[in-house]
Amino acid sequence: MDIRFDGKYAVVTGAGRGIGRAIARVLGASGACVYVSDVIEQNATNVRDEIRAFGGEAEAFVADVTKPEQLEKLMQAPPVLDIMVNTAGIIIPETLFSAKQEDIDKIFQINAIGSSNSVRAAFPRMREQGHGRILLIASATSRNTGNMIAHYGMTKASVVSLAMAAAEEGAHYGINVNAICPGIIFSHIWEVMMDRYVKGNSPADREAWWKALVESIVPGGKEQTCEDIANSVAFMVSDQAKNITGQSLSVDGGMWLGF
Ligand SMILES: NC(=O)c1ccc[n+]([C@@H]2O[C@H](COP(=O)([O-])OP(=O)(O)OC[C@H]3O[C@@H](n4cnc5c(N)ncnc54)[C@H](O)[C@@H]3O)[C@@H](O)[C@H]2O)c1
Repeated sequence: MDIRFDGKYAVVTGAGRGIGRAIARVLGASGACVYVSDVIEQNATNVRDEIRAFGGEAEAFVADVTKPEQLEKLMQAPPVLDIMVNTAGIIIPETLFSAKQEDIDKIFQINAIGSSNSVRAAFPRMREQGHGRILLIASATSRNTGNMIAHYGMTKASVVSLAMAAAEEGAHYGINVNAICPGIIFSHIWEVMMDRYVKGNSPADREAWWKALVESIVPGGKEQTCEDIANSVAFMVSDQAKNITGQSLSVDGGMWLGF
């Protein structure tokens, strides 16, 4: 199976680093013209340049997913909006009871409402076109979570719910909406977790904490990579997946199995 996106246009939010960057690169390497969007302009520009450097087509865009008017401009930017992937997300490394109200509001604004803002901004164009693929990055914590990331898990469960609601509406207009639930991938959000939870905080302490965590929650004892997630996204937004909608796919090495 050869997945190609030649002649197609894709918008990826939160694409300036980590998983979003890998998604933008894989779509770009598979022929899509990618609108690399992030709230950090320099990171969006860097990823655009990386894609252009390997011969792909890309544009950089600054959009904050908490600002519907910025997302509306972003979704209007490509000549056709074939694909929209919402990756933007943050974590607050606090428990249900230690989290401050302002942090709870912020994580819901970005992860939950931000996902809804992206879908609501993409839908009118896709509806008018009569086709579109929307992919939302949720998390394994939408299904199994813990106190260390209580509010994060709540926001990600809402993303799975959003994918189902939007898929029902989209089915009337040729728009597929799905979610992917990544497991555990080393990225900036885990740096933030380690700053809060690792005792000692030397590089060796951080490495030991990470290793113990991965071994305790992934049956095979291995984390996933950004590319693992990006390759799954590529399939889910491809024509080969045209009959898949309203689903949430775990890409997590079987995380939590056996618990
Ligand atoms: N890393 C993991 O283990 C893991 C597991 C499950 C789900 N996820 C999800 O994957 C997505 C990507 O996370 P990551 O691990 O690559 O972390 P990351 O911090 O490297 O990437 C997040 C990106 O989102 C951007 N962003 C943050 N707030 C934004 C806003 N308001 N508007 C637009 N962009 C914004 C950041 O600038 C950054 O580029 C997130 O939604 C995260 O919750 C990650």
